[in-house]
Amino acid sequence: MEVDEGSDSKDFITELSDDIVAMILCLLPIKYAVVTGSVCKKWRFLWRNLRKLNFDGTGDLTRISRDWRLLNRKRQMYVYQVNDVIGSYNHPMVEELRIHFDLDNDHRTLIDGWLKFAVKKKVETIELYFVDNEHHTRFLTTYNYNFPLSLSHRNDAVVEIPSLKKLYLKNVNVTEEILEQFLTNSPHLETISIHGSGYLTKIRVSGRPLNLKHFEIDECPMMSSIHLSDFDLVSFVYKGQPMNLNLANLPNLRKLICSFIL
Ligand SMILES: *[C@@H]1O[C@H](CO)[C@@H](O)[C@H](O)[C@H]1NC(C)=O
Repeated sequence: MEVDEGSDSKDFITELSDDIVAMILCLLPIKYAVVTGSVCKKWRFLWRNLRKLNFDGTGDLTRISRDWRLLNRKRQMYVYQVNDVIGSYNHPMVEELRIHFDLDNDHRTLIDGWLKFAVKKKVETIELYFVDNEHHTRFLTTYNYNFPLSLSHRNDAVVEIPSLKKLYLKNVNVTEEILEQFLTNSPHLETISIHGSGYLTKIRVSGRPLNLKHFEIDECPMMSSIHLSDFDLVSFVYKGQPMNLNLANLPNLRKLICSFIL
């Protein structure tokens, strides 16, 4: 869509300062923000400076979920768009990276790449929210994306995201070792939410100079025990099968919700 050269709206648009335009763009899903680039030449490259990359492609997914051809085409489009935006992103920082779509471990190379990009850009919030429209079954972790044990360009097997503050994972397999590394190597990490992870059986978070304030474990089917003690946790939410819960010396705990699914 090109705006008519002589129209009043064009005059108004070009008068907006870059700051305001960037703010408006932040409020739009990325798809529209990219399209906005074609409205006015001045805007064209502005979206590349967005600090929050929110790729939510879940909109009409449930409607097309039974048509695997359409779903595959949508997947290709989605991946193409994310790669396109990330490939030409030129700001040194990304505040948020949100990936909301129907992707699984078959797409691990791509997802690993997006995460590496985010780590390099000093990301503060990572949200990987994968829906499974093909299999539907609750508690099915078989196809989950496995969170990688290395995100650095060096070869060592260490998850190290020093800038990270918030981590939300849905239908992503996280091992205890990886969770441990998050807690050790992301000193500013204050929110962790893990939904539908395989592998996770025991969690022990205790007595370290931790910044973790909000912790949520939701429907992780192999969970057998959680031990939290001696740090400044503010809220803990658990939903899932019954397990051994051990909470001790959490002086700031204000919110505790446990829903056991029998
Ligand atoms: C995710 O974890 C489960 C264990 O709960 C495992 O069976 C499954 O194979 C894992 N997914 C992948 C893609 O490796």
